[in-house]
Amino acid sequence: MPPINLKKQIKRHVIAQSHQYYAATLPGLEGLCVAELSQVHQDISIQGTFTGGVLFSGRLPALYEANLQLRTAGRILMRLAEFKATNFRQLEKKLAEVAWSLYLPAGCVPACKVTTHQSRLYHSQAIVQHVAEVVGSYWNDQGVEVTGPQGQTVYLLMQEDMATLSLDSSGPNLYLRGLKTHTTTAPLRETLAAAILQLAGYDPARPLIDPMCGSGTFSLEAALWAKQIPPGALRDFAFMQWPAFSQSQWRYMKTKALKAVKTLVRPMVFASDLDTAASAQLSQCVARHRLEDVVRVRTRDFFTLQPPQHEGRRLAPGLIVINPPYGRRLKPDQSLLTFFQRIGKKLQEDFKGWRVAMLVPRTELARQMPFPVKGMPIVHGGLALTLLVGRVG
Ligand SMILES: C[S@@+](CC[C@H](N)C(=O)[O-])C[C@H]1O[C@@H](n2cnc3c(N)ncnc32)[C@H](O)[C@@H]1O
Repeated sequence: MPPINLKKQIKRHVIAQSHQYYAATLPGLEGLCVAELSQVHQDISIQGTFTGGVLFSGRLPALYEANLQLRTAGRILMRLAEFKATNFRQLEKKLAEVAWSLYLPAGCVPACKVTTHQSRLYHSQAIVQHVAEVVGSYWNDQGVEVTGPQGQTVYLLMQEDMATLSLDSSGPNLYLRGLKTHTTTAPLRETLAAAILQLAGYDPARPLIDPMCGSGTFSLEAALWAKQIPPGALRDFAFMQWPAFSQSQWRYMKTKALKAVKTLVRPMVFASDLDTAASAQLSQCVARHRLEDVVRVRTRDFFTLQPPQHEGRRLAPGLIVINPPYGRRLKPDQSLLTFFQRIGKKLQEDFKGWRVAMLVPRTELARQMPFPVKGMPIVHGGLALTLLVGRVG
């Protein structure tokens, strides 16, 4: 428990204030993140977009809600200070001016990640060491016993001698939803899967087919969306250890969000894979999290799959989202071209009217689709991929 005087300062300088935050996204997904942020909390004001991130402001509840609700952001940083530093003496002086006890749990010496561009201070490891020393001395001066990072990380960006010091509010990357405990070969990150669903115009009221589901990232993201389960509902965040954190406020926010969770009358997400182990693991995950009302999992070869039915009648077309094996990580037996030609032919034969989103390793594979598709660049796991989106005509 912080002492009374400290509590007052936290109230005045942290709780009562609006802060600047940076939501980190994959490059190219900033626009989606802005759209999401605008829906998350009325107190959020967008300050600008940068390659790989969105700057926004608001008070702490806006930050909590952003961590709980954003699907496309990887983490959210809270800005603590911006200053010029051309040498270590200046850096130390400025770091020593930060009122660390307002932001960090008592005694915490956070982990530190440094990025430097065109700056006289460029030795990242030496910067990390200085941050640790300054924060350690800060606690020593206050007579507080120094501990380890306690799950806290500060980010220091040095850009043309200007330092931006931020505190990570998320902890483990936000793609870790706390839902999947299993994995298969080449899973997508949940944040990217959510982005692809948004880019493809996913409508939870319509069926979604994930016919090469692997670990089921698309299906689980769609399930959370269709049931209106906040993507962060099953995990904790670094901000929960901050001295300004209010457990009761957080509980209220989460309870309110969870009240909106829906039960579906019949599954609308259809996951399948050729691999029996993959579909078995996904089935277990779906059962463990009580998502059977929305996701149905089967072991199937995509090339034998038919559109889903309900009571003997085909469901109206929805979205079919495909992440086929490809490239450096997974090599299909057939040549790449033949494999994608077969996929295109199968879609044309059996999925007329369905929207299609397919992640492919090469833009020219668009020509293998016998219906018009648009290509959008996507970076995933260091690979430059293309998302093809179209409708089977
Ligand atoms: C790149 S992985 C999909 C990863 C998945 N999006 C995830 O996030 O875990 C490709 C998947 O396609 C499956 N697959 C390959 N050929 C298939 C076929 N003909 N029918 C169904 N699944 C197939 C593989 O078993 C593998 O799980």
